[in-house]
Amino acid sequence: MSNTGQQDQRLWGGRFQEPTDAFVERFTASVSFDQRLYQQDIRGSIAHATMLHKVGILDEAEKQAIVEGLEGIASDIEAGRFEWSVSLEDVHMNIEAELTRRIGLTGKKLHTGRSRNDQVATDIRLFVRDEIDVIAAEITRLQTALLDVAEREADTIMPGFTHLQSAQPITFGHHLLAWYEMLDRDHGRLMDCRKRLNVSPLGAAALAGTSFPIDREYTAELLGFDSTSRNSLDSVSDRDFTIELAAFGSLLMTHLSRFSEELVLWTSAQFDFIDLPDRFCTGSSIMPQKKNPDVPELVRGKTGRVNGHLVSLLTLMKSQPLAYNKDNQEDKEPVFDLLDTVRDCLKAYADMMPAIKAKKENMYQAASRGYATATDLADYLVKKGLAFRDAHEIVGQSVAYGIEQGKDLGELSLGELQQFSDNIGEDVFAVLTLEGSVQARDHVGGTAPAQVRAAVKACRLDMQTRDSL
Ligand code: ARG
Repeated sequence: MSNTGQQDQRLWGGRFQEPTDAFVERFTASVSFDQRLYQQDIRGSIAHATMLHKVGILDEAEKQAIVEGLEGIASDIEAGRFEWSVSLEDVHMNIEAELTRRIGLTGKKLHTGRSRNDQVATDIRLFVRDEIDVIAAEITRLQTALLDVAEREADTIMPGFTHLQSAQPITFGHHLLAWYEMLDRDHGRLMDCRKRLNVSPLGAAALAGTSFPIDREYTAELLGFDSTSRNSLDSVSDRDFTIELAAFGSLLMTHLSRFSEELVLWTSAQFDFIDLPDRFCTGSSIMPQKKNPDVPELVRGKTGRVNGHLVSLLTLMKSQPLAYNKDNQEDKEPVFDLLDTVRDCLKAYADMMPAIKAKKENMYQAASRGYATATDLADYLVKKGLAFRDAHEIVGQSVAYGIEQGKDLGELSLGELQQFSDNIGEDVFAVLTLEGSVQARDHVGGTAPAQVRAAVKACRLDMQTRDSL
């Protein structure tokens, strides 16, 4: 599209003596990506026009024409019938120019008391808020799935690890509840971000406010904001909420990446703890035996791009003087991509989680290797009157002996165990079993099956109150 001739498309062309350089036009345009804001842009404009009418700047017919015009544009965009123009730079000017084309002069009145600076600040907040609500629902769906599986697997014994070495027996349900807790904090962070961003910048205009008698509280209310911003300079330049969102996203992805790492390990032939349904895996074109855990691997991999967006946004803001700068146009792509990535990864996990099958026998076998009840033996000796450090030493010797004999602690005879301490009696075998070991950790936050069930119940209640707020 050319800028020469009489019909200069540029809505700000008045003071310019020559057309924009063709490359610069493309370089500065954002419409190829910010057209994703069209719904929010139109919602914001309808609220603005409604307010202009309320305060007497637009008459009823003008407001009506603008609202109907904008609604028509929204449905045309929705239906793919809208032609975006790079010469019109961004989503805001494309829609405004089209409105004027459709309804004539009245369209030009829409921008009274407003600037693209407070307009875009409003649009992006509305967009992020809408997406936050979708993402929060996906977190809840994944958390619910985790609780269901945790309840089902409350008695399933597996090895618990530190340093990826067998440490103590735990229940699989307990392990899944650890994942739940991480997501619970993520949900809290997301809600915090929502609360802080839900403040209306509309009315800040370019940077200093406007000389028209606008009603900012009214537009804020129409758009579902909790309040209006207090400082016009800050309103048009603040992108903190995108950084908070990215920080939330990075942390959430870090958690999903940790889950992924465990799923990848657990589905390997070496661990063989769980089975992922075929529909979440793919094969190899050369090795017919392969079933690869692609979904967790991809989620783990996508963590990198979300971390990248966090750094992009932080860097984008770090040198900006007040108030608006064109730099801010660069916030869109990272924000869009991080929202898409986080939402898709959560969806994949929420769909996959209920279908995960525990290979209980393998988990149990793994827990019975690796001297996982050594701490239980030490605790047993302490209860017989020994100091913990002495008990630790005795158990260390028993483990060394077991390794020599190729036997786990529970497989040693009473006579063999008594070589290391005559405080050991027949009752020791009750604590050396995996079931005894997990049941003994029967306090809030412990791995005992009864505690897992109680925790699931408490979490369900917690989520109910949280989501009804
Ligand atoms: N496309 C711009 C952005 O995304 C809209 C605001 C432009 N304002 C301006 N004065 N150039 O930030």
